[in-house]
Amino acid sequence: MRLSRYFLPVLKETPSEAQIVSHRLMLRAGMIRQQAAGIYSWLPLGYKVLKKVEQIVHEEQQRAGHIPLLMPTLQSADLWRESGRYDDYGEEMLRITDRHGRDMLYGPTNEEMITDIFRSYVRSYKDLPLTLYHIQWKFRDEVRPRFGVMRGREFLMKDGYNFDLTVEDALHAYNRHLVSYIRTYERMGLQAIPMRADSGPIGGDDTHEFLVLADTGESEVFYDAAVTDIKLGKREIDYDSHEACHAVMEEFTSLYARTDETHDAALFEQVPEERRRVARGIEVGQIFFFGTKYSEVMGATVQGPDGKPTPVQMGSHGIGVSRLLGALIEANHDDKGIIWPEGVTPFHVGIVNLKQGDAEADGACEALYKSFEALGLEPLYDDRDERAGGKFATMDIIGLPWRITVGPRGLKNGVVEVTSRRTGESEELTPELAIAKIAKIYADL
Ligand SMILES: Nc1ncnc2c1ncn2[C@@H]1O[C@H](COP(=O)(O)OP(=O)(O)OP(=O)(O)O)[C@@H](O)[C@H]1O
Ligand SMILES: [Mg+2]
Repeated sequence: MRLSRYFLPVLKETPSEAQIVSHRLMLRAGMIRQQAAGIYSWLPLGYKVLKKVEQIVHEEQQRAGHIPLLMPTLQSADLWRESGRYDDYGEEMLRITDRHGRDMLYGPTNEEMITDIFRSYVRSYKDLPLTLYHIQWKFRDEVRPRFGVMRGREFLMKDGYNFDLTVEDALHAYNRHLVSYIRTYERMGLQAIPMRADSGPIGGDDTHEFLVLADTGESEVFYDAAVTDIKLGKREIDYDSHEACHAVMEEFTSLYARTDETHDAALFEQVPEERRRVARGIEVGQIFFFGTKYSEVMGATVQGPDGKPTPVQMGSHGIGVSRLLGALIEANHDDKGIIWPEGVTPFHVGIVNLKQGDAEADGACEALYKSFEALGLEPLYDDRDERAGGKFATMDIIGLPWRITVGPRGLKNGVVEVTSRRTGESEELTPELAIAKIAKIYADL
C-alpha cells in the first residue's frame, strides 16, 4: 500500500474522551471511529489488524479440529424462551420487534441457537465428538460501555460449542480449548494466563478466564508469579490425545491464579510470599464446561451405544476478538504510539522516503516495495511529499514493527536504514540485506 492512496486519518490531538492508552492510540492511529456509545466503525488500519487477529483464531481453532460455521446476529426470542434465558438475561439483551410483532434479539451469545442446530441434525453418538464455532458480532447492552473496543456494546467474538457423549470427552474438549487458546494468544505475541473464574449467566461448574496482565484491566487478579514463566512455545500438541491436552491444562493451571470472583485468601497464603502478586488483567477469553444444562431443556439428545436417548455433554468457549486489539495495544506501546507484535501487524514493514521526488530515492523505494510484495509481504510505503519528522511520527504511532528509511545520503553509500520500532535500534544495510533480514523475521514466526 502507498500511503498517498490509503485512508489513514491519523489524529494529531489526543481525543479527550479516551481514558486508557489503547483507546487513545486506536483513535489517534485512525483505526476506529465511534458511531454510538460502544459501537464502532473499523477504519482500514483497524480492520486490517482485526482480520489478522481473526485469521489466527480461525487457524488455531481448525488446528484443534473445530469446525467453522456462521450463525446470524439476530435471533428469535422463542429459542431463548426454551432455555429460560429470555427472562434471565436482563437488560444486557437488546430486544427488537419485527414488523409482524415477533420478538427478536441481537445475540449476546449462541448457546441456544447452536443447540437447536445440533438437535435438528445429530441423532447418534457415532457423530460425536463435535465442536462447532463461529466468529460473529455480538451485542450486549452494557451499562457502561467504555475503553473503546475493550468494553463495547457491539463486539466481535469467537464462540465455540462442544458436543460430547460423556463427561470425560467433554472435559477433553475443555482442555483442548485451553491449549488452543494459549497457542492463539502466544501467536499474537500475548501472554494470557488461564485463571479459575466464576461462571456467570452461562452457568456451569468448570470455567477458566484468560487474562492479559495490564494496569488498565477491569479484573483484579491474584497469582503466583511463577505462572508467567510457563510458555507453550512451538511444542506440537496432539489435540486428539486426552493425556497430552490434560497435561498442558495441569501445567498451566496448577499454580495459584484466580480472579477476584474466586479468590481464596487462605489458599493464596500458601504461595511463597515473594511470588504472590495482586494485579489487574484484561479478560480476553473464557472456557466453560456446563454438561447437560442446555441439552436437557432443549432436547439435544443422541442415541447412545446402549440404544437409549442420552442428552449431550456441552461446553462453550469464547475469545474476545475485537477486545484483543485493545489488549494487544495495552501490552505493546510506548509514548510514541503502538508497537505491533509481528504476528498481527497491519503491514509487515514501513518504507519511509526521506526525499520524495528525488529520482534515486524514489527508485530505491519502488524497488524495495516490489521486492517485499514479491515475497508475499505487505509494505506500507510513505510516498507523501512530507517532511521526514512527520513521516516518522506517522510510522511510530501506527506501530509497524520494522521501518526502512531511504535517503539520498545513504544511497550514495549503497545503504538504507532498518529500524526496529520496539528497540529503536537502527542498522545500515544494503537494500538486499535489509529485505533478507525482514523476510527472515516473518518466515521464522
Ligand atoms: N462488552 C464487551 N466488549 C468486548 N469484548 C467483550 C465484551 N464482553 C465480553 N467480551 C469478550 O468476549 C469473551 C467471551 O464472552 P464472555 O461471555 O465470557 O464475556 P463476559 O465474561 O461477560 O465478559 P466481561 O466479564 O468482561 O463482561 C470475553 O472473554 C471477552 O474477551
Ligand atoms: Mg467471561
